Amino acid sequence: MSRRKLAAGNWKMNGTGAALAELETLIAGHADPDVEILICPPATLLYRAAQLAANAPLQIGAQDCHPEDAGAHTGDISAAMLADAGATHVILGHSERRENHDESSELTRAKAKTAISTGLTAIICLGESLTQREAANTLDIIAGQLSISVPDASTAENTVIAYEPIWAIGTGLTPSVAQIDEVHDFIRTRLVARFGPQIGNGIRLLYGGSVKPGNAAEIFATDNVDGALVGGASLKAADFSPIIAALEASA
Ligand code: PGA
Repeated sequence: MSRRKLAAGNWKMNGTGAALAELETLIAGHADPDVEILICPPATLLYRAAQLAANAPLQIGAQDCHPEDAGAHTGDISAAMLADAGATHVILGHSERRENHDESSELTRAKAKTAISTGLTAIICLGESLTQREAANTLDIIAGQLSISVPDASTAENTVIAYEPIWAIGTGLTPSVAQIDEVHDFIRTRLVARFGPQIGNGIRLLYGGSVKPGNAAEIFATDNVDGALVGGASLKAADFSPIIAALEASA
């Protein structure tokens, strides 16, 4: 099954209005319809980013949402608010949310259900710690996170899964291609077993964790890698563009 490639950038807590110029550079440099480009800026930039990206081959996503539609939740943002600001995607269950805010897979699933019912595409993140990998628990951890975090409502259109080993995020370390291959194949097999071949083979799997211009091509050559979720190297168009180009070349 052919799946559309996706190059997703996660700006995390980086960027004020001046950073929007990077989006203009990105838009000017890419027009391959086979590759979707997504930038998830901080919530404060969503509206302006979405205005800039309107009618351009660039989508704008958020980095988190609350599981409820509205209510007394000071500081939180609902999926409906993100959509209203122009977001089409939302990253959920990122390891920094799981670690910094004690977010569980159960909460991630609740958020994903709301995001999906609001019409957003949920990018659900999974990944093991270094201790878990060294104890040979990677696949068990992934299986647990996958079965709980991904809601029954998931389809190929409304859900993307990002495998992000925690020890590779922001560290410059990346798993070997064989290690990425093993986890992505495992996730694919699990998705097919749970959702059947149509949905299970249709859901896109991104790799994330220290993706850079220099390692993107070999990661994208891996089976079942449909793109990347990129942190640090998505902040500057000069770094993200060659990663997108590597994905375009693999498409
Ligand atoms: P990194 O972050 O590319 O800076 O390692 C990836 C992520 O956290 O999504």
